[in-house]
Amino acid sequence: MSKLKKALEKAKEARKNSMEVPIIDREPIFSPLKKLSTITQGMRFDKVNPTYHHTKVQNIDFESLEKNKIISICHGNEVADRIKILRTQILQSLKKLHGNSLLIASANPGEGRTVTAINLAIALSQQIDGTVLLVDADLRKPSVHSLLGLDVERGLSDYLRRKAEIPELMINPGIPRLVVLPGGKPLPNSSELLGAPQMQYLVQEMKERYSDRFIIFDSSPILTSADPLVLSRFVDGILMVVEAEKTNKEDLQRAIELLRDKPIIGTVFNKVKL
Ligand SMILES: Nc1ncnc2c1ncn2[C@@H]1O[C@H](COP(=O)(O)OP(=O)(O)OP(=O)(O)O)[C@@H](O)[C@H]1O
Ligand SMILES: [Mg+2]
Repeated sequence: MSKLKKALEKAKEARKNSMEVPIIDREPIFSPLKKLSTITQGMRFDKVNPTYHHTKVQNIDFESLEKNKIISICHGNEVADRIKILRTQILQSLKKLHGNSLLIASANPGEGRTVTAINLAIALSQQIDGTVLLVDADLRKPSVHSLLGLDVERGLSDYLRRKAEIPELMINPGIPRLVVLPGGKPLPNSSELLGAPQMQYLVQEMKERYSDRFIIFDSSPILTSADPLVLSRFVDGILMVVEAEKTNKEDLQRAIELLRDKPIIGTVFNKVKL
């Protein structure tokens, strides 16, 4: 039996028995993100506001995050606790790689990359001393801003088309130590722009200027465009999102093969029905 098949069998077995779902090889990461909607009532929200001198602040409506499955801001929530475990495992894996940047990837559309990226970014911002920068690099279908309820039109695509500078595009959504770079207008030729020196320079700058900064990139699906492969050149680690009972083995295998020697630090098994 192949390593991947064994891992999927193991995950299936584990899913039957408990909430912990071990996935794939290398540094396995466990994140059984079950359907979130039923367990987000009656939670407490952090509403502490930091002072941002250079970054625009746009306070989001915390109550409406829940309907978009953004729950890592909550306390006393089972799924939020699972995301915190994921956060710790990611921090450990990236520390081993001496890295601070992560690409959230998945084989197909709709498997939960954006929800995972946002939940993880919020959870990281609650733990680390530095800041977390969440970059919407899914330039074909930017959605970080809409899931967070941010009222913005411009973003990374405007910077890549040389229509704006990065500092004017960054937004603090009212969550301490979290900064968001929205995607901006969707771009059909995003692979070329993401692979351009302008992007390379930006990522280098983001990674090096602030050593205490952690960067998370949302991206488009691996099997539908070259964008995530282009982005994978710039990051220290890749987190694969696999949708329970939906992502098929062949697609996952093809996606992993496409990434080849890129550092997949683990896999999130998303939307597990418990
Ligand atoms: N753990 C979860 N539990 C329940 N629903 C979820 C979970 N994660 C994501 N979803 C839902 O699945 C849908 C797709 O999620 P999301 O937008 O994060 O996926 P995506 O992979 O980024 O999709 P796209 O390819 O469109 O960018 C959304 O309706 C979202 O609310
Ligand atoms: Mg998305």
